[in-house]
Amino acid sequence: MSVISSPASSESSALTDSRLAALCAGTVQRAFLDYDEQFHAITLRARDRFLARDWRGSYADAAERLHLYAREMEELTKQIKDALRARLCVRSVWTGMKAAYSSLIAQSSKREIAESFFNSLTRRVFATEGVDQAIEFVDTDFDEPPTTVPVDTRRVYSGASIHELLIASLTDPSAGFSEENWRALDITARHAAERLQAAFSTSPQESPANRRLKLEIIGNVFYRGRGAYVVGRVFRDSDDRSPLAIALCLRHENETGIDFDAVLIGETDLAILFSFTRAYFRVYTKCPYELVRSLCEIMPRKRLIDLYNAIGYHRHGKTEFYRDFVRHLRSSGDRFVTAEGARGMVMLVFTLPSYDVVFKLIKDRFDYPKESTRAEVMRRYRLVFEHDRIGRLVEAHEFEHLRIARDRFEPPLLEELLRDASSIVRLEGDDVVIAHVYVERRVRPLNLFLFEADEAAVAAAARDYGRAIKDLAASNIFPGDIFTKNFGVTRHGRVVFYDYDELCFVTDCNFREMPQPTTHEEEMSAEPWFSVRQNDIFPEEFPQFLRLPEAARSSLLAHHADLFSAAFWRSLQERLRAGELPEIFPYRAERRLA
Ligand SMILES: Nc1ncnc2c1ncn2[C@@H]1O[C@H](COP(=O)(O)OP(=O)(O)OP(=O)(O)O)[C@@H](O)[C@H]1O
Ligand SMILES: [Mg+2]
Repeated sequence: MSVISSPASSESSALTDSRLAALCAGTVQRAFLDYDEQFHAITLRARDRFLARDWRGSYADAAERLHLYAREMEELTKQIKDALRARLCVRSVWTGMKAAYSSLIAQSSKREIAESFFNSLTRRVFATEGVDQAIEFVDTDFDEPPTTVPVDTRRVYSGASIHELLIASLTDPSAGFSEENWRALDITARHAAERLQAAFSTSPQESPANRRLKLEIIGNVFYRGRGAYVVGRVFRDSDDRSPLAIALCLRHENETGIDFDAVLIGETDLAILFSFTRAYFRVYTKCPYELVRSLCEIMPRKRLIDLYNAIGYHRHGKTEFYRDFVRHLRSSGDRFVTAEGARGMVMLVFTLPSYDVVFKLIKDRFDYPKESTRAEVMRRYRLVFEHDRIGRLVEAHEFEHLRIARDRFEPPLLEELLRDASSIVRLEGDDVVIAHVYVERRVRPLNLFLFEADEAAVAAAARDYGRAIKDLAASNIFPGDIFTKNFGVTRHGRVVFYDYDELCFVTDCNFREMPQPTTHEEEMSAEPWFSVRQNDIFPEEFPQFLRLPEAARSSLLAHHADLFSAAFWRSLQERLRAGELPEIFPYRAERRLA
């Protein structure tokens, strides 16, 4: 990390407020540029890692990039505290600083990210309750987008068969893969072209083969884990108003070349690829604003928060969430209520029916038999943030000092919040102030879903529930509590996990078979007659505790009976300990082209 210069504290005491504000604004801007440069450097490495099949390096880069922001912010906070000293909490200095900073970033193509960077600093210093436009960019200072000239080019391919267009887009030098990098591209592209042709509903007059398609591709390749993705749209003709979203999924498992592994067609497939339950992509961009707007055109149902997150700007994602949430509160009138489903023993969970997120607070005291502590629960949530969420762990965004009008809460909920989370919830005038909360996407709790959906949907969800446990396990996560109340179903029908307070690494568990009783007393004993240590787990016992409707139970056992044997888990532990890296595709096997 480069050293960021700031006014030396001995000099700063002699400066006027406005001069000091200007100098500090410069310090913040330099810190932002430093962060941006490092973010870029890591992101740019993604292509080399992919070409070299350096997966360990790829995961290490992803982890390093996640920590970058907090590291930079810590260093900056120290410097600003040192420079402002006695004037640290003088608001007029901060309003001056904000104005000076705003003009410094006016020309930046990452202005919105730079604004959020400033907000992170103010919130660290002031622990701002609610928000304060005078010292934070609650709303952006700019009406215009950060750049008027498109900087991230979209590439358009037309005038040839779809098969040729696909090959042209993948071997375009600007994508970074030359023609000799590929394996069997001609055949896979042919399969992909057939699927694309078929995806456009064919009217009798129109033979699909004759149709002239146009391919529009976002010029930046998206890298994540062991995959690379080229994303865009296919148009039937130049004024097609409902183009198809597509993603071309690349793998490099074999040293002889890159495989065009799968084609994803349609918004649902793309939404699953860009899900809030996955790690962030590394994708080079000069202008996140523009990239996010391009993604919005492809996936109009995605929120800005999800798209900024998806490309690695999760702090700015929070700003976008907050703006959207405030707008929503102004334009709605419903009240916050307790979330549906089984009450948490550790978390207090509420939601606004008209807005699809849940708010999760750690209770002051946990119900028996939970023995954890607040710090321990927070540690597990942080672990999830840092872990590859592999499409099965809901992302939890941490917010501090959230202020919401009191009359938006149903009275029983408010009473409960003030009673069971009094250390982090208080009333201030007409507002409720929440010191610490996790915000997650709302999903349908699986325990409810299994008793309300039709039989086919229940069987499919139960099967995916088993798959979810296996995916988590492959990434070394044991959910701790595998009850269906801790899983939910997304709008795309995928089963995901959201209860993190007992989550642990598979390699830290001790999976055991149930000991066989050898005496009559042992056999008749209601309590375990053998000693059980804290991390002992008896998979054979799981089915007995799961309350499942018959369709779900038979589907789960038909597809995933192995989950209920200690041998399955122990053999997985061996593979994990030998350093095997998870390979969990963000698409279904049917989407693959080989
Ligand atoms: N993302 C979510 N979407 C929808 N509902 C949710 C979500 N997260 C939690 N809930 C609801 O809130 C309840 C409590 O949440 P959670 O399971 O995280 O808390 P907990 O206290 O850790 O639970 P437990 O008592 O099982 O340990 C869940 O049972 C579920 O009904
Ligand atoms: Mg729970």
